[in-house]
Amino acid sequence: MSKLEIHQFPCLSDNYGVLVRDPDTGVVASIDAPEADAVRAALSEKGWKLTHILTTHYHADHTDGNLPLKEEFGCTIIGPRDEADKVRGIDIKVGDGDTFEFGSHSVKVFGTPGHTSGHIIYWIPDASVAFVGDTLFAMGCGRVFEGSMQGMWNSIQKVAALPPETTLYCGHEYTSANAAFALTIEPGNADLQARVKQVAALRADGKPTLPTQLSEELATNPFIRADSPEIRKNLGLESAADWEVFAEVRERKNRG
Ligand SMILES: [Fe+2]
Repeated sequence: MSKLEIHQFPCLSDNYGVLVRDPDTGVVASIDAPEADAVRAALSEKGWKLTHILTTHYHADHTDGNLPLKEEFGCTIIGPRDEADKVRGIDIKVGDGDTFEFGSHSVKVFGTPGHTSGHIIYWIPDASVAFVGDTLFAMGCGRVFEGSMQGMWNSIQKVAALPPETTLYCGHEYTSANAAFALTIEPGNADLQARVKQVAALRADGKPTLPTQLSEELATNPFIRADSPEIRKNLGLESAADWEVFAEVRERKNRG
């Protein structure tokens, strides 16, 4: 089995598009489709033909390209069963616990409600990669628009439980703002301090800060670190449940 080829490119103002190709079979998936023109340009740059779109959630900045790309390439759109009525052009509906084949690779689906009620993520274990949409970002997480804080915390725990060496592709480049916020929550975290400097250098060079590695998020992302004594102390939540610590961090970010 050959290694998957993955190509990430910027879209819209702060989204990322991602193309994934299985060289053994030639299948090519776009992870979400923020805008048709950018996906088309990335495909022609690589010389690839689109066969699939894997949708994480229905928001327009993740699905606007679905219908024009489907019309042009005849690609199959796989997306979240629990919000299928809102995903343009959906062909195959999947949900938590499902597995499907993408070329010679198995893809596992997790339901991660919270940002939207039907949000899903895709994990390809043999490639050690997950596409997490707007569930988790570098040092951040998606806003909780359609679920409870406890539900979003449970969703983030599904990402946290993947092997730590998993590479995470996320929907947005929000890392600089997330880094500044993270420092207000856990200023004594040495890993976080070092990462903030790395991120500043990357952005100064106009380079992406994504993808990220789960191990890095476990060490620095305040939305996943509810067990950190420093965070609990700073929030005055020493004996609260983990999800309550998460909720307070999310609410502070919303206000910031
Ligand atoms: Fe979104």
